[in-house]
Amino acid sequence: MTKPLKIAIAGLGTVGGGIVKMVQKHGALLEKRAGKAIEITAVSARSRGKDRGVDLSGYAWEDNPVALSQRDDVDLVIEVMGGEDGPAKACVETALQNGKHVVTANKAMLALHGQSMAEMAENSGVALRYEAAVAGGIPIVKALTEGLAGNGITRVMGVMNGTCNYILTEMERTGAAYADVLKDAQALGYAEADPSVDVGGIDAAHKLSLLSSVAFGTKVDFASVQIEGIERVSLADIKNARDMGFSIKLLGVSRMNADGLEQRMQPCLVPANSPLGQLDGVSNMVVVDGDFIGQTVYQGPGAGEGPTASAILGDVMDIARGLVIPVFGQPAAGLSNSEASRAGSDAAYYLRFSLQDQAGVLATLATILGNFGVSINRMHQYSHGGQSAPLVIVTHATSRTALDQALAEISALPASLAAPIALRIETL
Ligand SMILES: NC(=O)c1ccc[n+]([C@@H]2O[C@H](COP(=O)([O-])OP(=O)(O)OC[C@H]3O[C@@H](n4cnc5c(N)ncnc54)[C@H](OP(=O)(O)O)[C@@H]3O)[C@@H](O)[C@H]2O)c1
Repeated sequence: MTKPLKIAIAGLGTVGGGIVKMVQKHGALLEKRAGKAIEITAVSARSRGKDRGVDLSGYAWEDNPVALSQRDDVDLVIEVMGGEDGPAKACVETALQNGKHVVTANKAMLALHGQSMAEMAENSGVALRYEAAVAGGIPIVKALTEGLAGNGITRVMGVMNGTCNYILTEMERTGAAYADVLKDAQALGYAEADPSVDVGGIDAAHKLSLLSSVAFGTKVDFASVQIEGIERVSLADIKNARDMGFSIKLLGVSRMNADGLEQRMQPCLVPANSPLGQLDGVSNMVVVDGDFIGQTVYQGPGAGEGPTASAILGDVMDIARGLVIPVFGQPAAGLSNSEASRAGSDAAYYLRFSLQDQAGVLATLATILGNFGVSINRMHQYSHGGQSAPLVIVTHATSRTALDQALAEISALPASLAAPIALRIETL
């Protein structure tokens, strides 16, 4: 009889609990599909006595998760504790060094230690898989490393944090302010008590850095991701963008430019009638452009017990079937040290100015933009009661450097009442 694949689970919270439920519910199905049984042999979490709503009586318990990685009756360790260092890192590294496969949902850890862990896995001849770490249940790592492996990838772009997408779509739908929608998201369990990692764009940037590595054959370089969260997105900008046919999304974009790898996670405008523009609520979406395939779009639930367990089990099944592919789609030793692109790619921008309502101000502003080669595509001046005249401009494609120089000059005008807002417009 074929030997079972024996797995251990470090962490029994939302994700770990979901994995136990899935293995218990679908044991027979998994065995048929993999050609061998998937057996949980040991588990670990902080508190042994906690009722987790699942029967753990058949599994060995370890107080220390690292001990799971040292057991003879474990072939594969699933790390779902979280934390970029500490027990998660120790547990994963010990497993890899001991020749055990690893599946993890931990994007923070891989964004910082992905390269060294990939080298460890490949030296030991084992798999290190992380589908659940990026865009939850969407099999995007698999799409890039396998289905699209014959393509040169030209851009990876997406909405990869459900909390932020929920907040932005609720602001647009209800007209409520950021702080109020954030409170609702916390009450519904979509946002953490400390939401800074989500709304600050860091969680999504972790994910983008992993996809960049797979797409462009570079070492994971989280430190070079330009990150801006959604905290400063105003209702006025959401409404103005909508009037001009756009939606605002926290968008991750990664592409290889002539001067290096561009990785940005920031609020951007996308066409309201595009798949990304229509993405509502906590869903995630990733758009991949490849030279032979063209554009592909992947949508699905980005978090939660079921979707995350689904992604973990997908990885476990591949390993059970004997599939061991390089962690970032090519041998780790061959991943390049790419420069971070300084200039970034040209784009159209949405600009909002608060200007004193004086004769000649508009002409001055247009002249300054023109002097820096920023040409105006569309302009809208909103009606106003007081002295301030809100003005919205959509530019043609321009370089960010030229735009920043123009905006600095406009900010210094006596008629400028507040710093201009500039949001990039990403095309699909
Ligand atoms: N939740 C999601 O939807 C989701 C989606 C994608 C990726 N992820 C990632 O999946 C991982 C887990 O997330 P989660 O939502 O399942 O977290 P969680 O609900 O907070 O669960 C964490 C689990 O790890 C255990 N744990 C923490 N520190 C430990 C330690 N030092 N030793 C042993 N066990 C320890 C906890 O034990 P106790 O239960 O005893 O406290 C708990 O069972 C994170 O990396 C997260 O980023 C989560």
